[in-house]
Amino acid sequence: MVTPELTRRHFLTSATASTFAFLACKPAWSAGATARVEILADEPIGTIAPELYGHFAEHLGGVIYDGVWVGEGSKIPNEHGIRKALLDGLRRIGAPAIRWPGGCFADSYDWLDGIGPRRSRPTRTGFWDDRPETNAFGTTEFMRFCRLSGAAPYLAANLRSLPAQSFSRWVEYCNAPAGSTDLARRRAADGSPRPYDVRHWGVGNESWGCGGNFSPEEYAEEFRRFTSYVPLYGKQLDLIGAGPGGDESEWTERFFEAMRRKTGYSPPLTGWSVHYYIDDLGRGQKEDALHFGADDWTETLRRALKMEIIIGHQWDILGRYDPKRSIRLVADEYGAWYRPGSELDPSHLLGQQSTLRDALLTAMTLDIFNRHADKMSMANCAQLINCLNALFFAHEDKFVPTPVFRVFELYRAHHGGQSLGLRCDAPESAPGLPGLAGSASRRDRGITLTLTNPSPDRPVETQIALKSAGARLSSAIAQVLANGDIHAHSTFENGEAVRPAPLSVDLRQGLLTVRIPAAAVARFDIELV
Ligand code: AHR
Repeated sequence: MVTPELTRRHFLTSATASTFAFLACKPAWSAGATARVEILADEPIGTIAPELYGHFAEHLGGVIYDGVWVGEGSKIPNEHGIRKALLDGLRRIGAPAIRWPGGCFADSYDWLDGIGPRRSRPTRTGFWDDRPETNAFGTTEFMRFCRLSGAAPYLAANLRSLPAQSFSRWVEYCNAPAGSTDLARRRAADGSPRPYDVRHWGVGNESWGCGGNFSPEEYAEEFRRFTSYVPLYGKQLDLIGAGPGGDESEWTERFFEAMRRKTGYSPPLTGWSVHYYIDDLGRGQKEDALHFGADDWTETLRRALKMEIIIGHQWDILGRYDPKRSIRLVADEYGAWYRPGSELDPSHLLGQQSTLRDALLTAMTLDIFNRHADKMSMANCAQLINCLNALFFAHEDKFVPTPVFRVFELYRAHHGGQSLGLRCDAPESAPGLPGLAGSASRRDRGITLTLTNPSPDRPVETQIALKSAGARLSSAIAQVLANGDIHAHSTFENGEAVRPAPLSVDLRQGLLTVRIPAAAVARFDIELV
């Protein structure tokens, strides 16, 4: 793993030490370009799980009500009560997974409130404010949302305020074979005789905070209670433990140490979550989403790189307790968290604008996930709509995608590809911030390369070469997300300000030359012979 280094030229590579062995046979770089990128086609890292491009939708502000759910009787175009424009957007980016119902909301949520006829569901007080939670959107509607969007459900179980039995009953309601149990029959009465076959289950959320304020040892005990019996119905479940917030080693160490002390028991964990928000720039207060200077831009993106450090540290700790590597990392909340004030409607609690800055931090984060495809099984951008780092904004009949959506659209080409080593050699755009960052993946003879130029004001002229024993570049096209204004963002009135545009590339003698504008994310579709 490479950490940001304060050198004049920033080398960013996702390959192993063997990368350096080939430096003796460098490609024939031509003079002129300031940066060089080398795709290490013979150095596969691992398959990029499509789930690394997952999402998160919590009962919070305008995420579910106003964002996702408009109801079957609504004049707003919908499919079975789900906002149609949102479904179209999710289909376009091939959304692979959605985490629900929280977040902190999950730690107070009783899934039984959200099944059965809607008119008889109880109204409760939500977690985030005193607004009533009608439970109009429950498991039935969420599963419909997943089916219509093509995403796999990822359910977060309430480990703070419900007993373990409620968790296994929720699994039963979702997964028991048709007609086999009382809960399977209730599911059928709710419209689905067939099981939902939910595979991904979060066993708690932020159990060190809103999820119970447990110590790691207490959480380990609760985790054992919750997972010692979970009905499987012949399927493998992906049980995800509530990992740390940020680069917190102690939570992970002490949890696994507590597990180890319980002899004869190995935790049925397949995933360990990490949450990472960029929620201040070291000034002890949240920043503004829209009003920022070039220095704030740089510092935000520098902090985005910390995700790579977190992945490395957590992976190292897991390795000590799980030498067979059956546990993968799940970054199930990430993004920037700004102060209130830029939300598109006052009811959108934690709503905030997404600018080109957020597009770049998302792109750089997704590139990190790709470069660590061997360690990660899922990631969920926080959150899908009308909230932090949102892909979409909606209010009543208004709807607009954000620059973050366009990143997910560009990066769709990475889903399921084989992540490849990548070596970027470019002068730093600012101390600790690389001149270029990116990732590459391969499917058959096609390579997808994504590169971000994090400089707010300087384009980068770069050459791109392939390092391979048996293949060479044969053709390439590229597109770019950019805007002369680093604050560019979407509004209901003016629509989108950041959209993909073609980027011209020049391919000669196996060397691709391109000028990547300042503050831009580019995708290259490369064919090999
Ligand atoms: O995404 C908003 C909140 O941030 C989530 O509910 C919680 O898990 C995290 O602290």
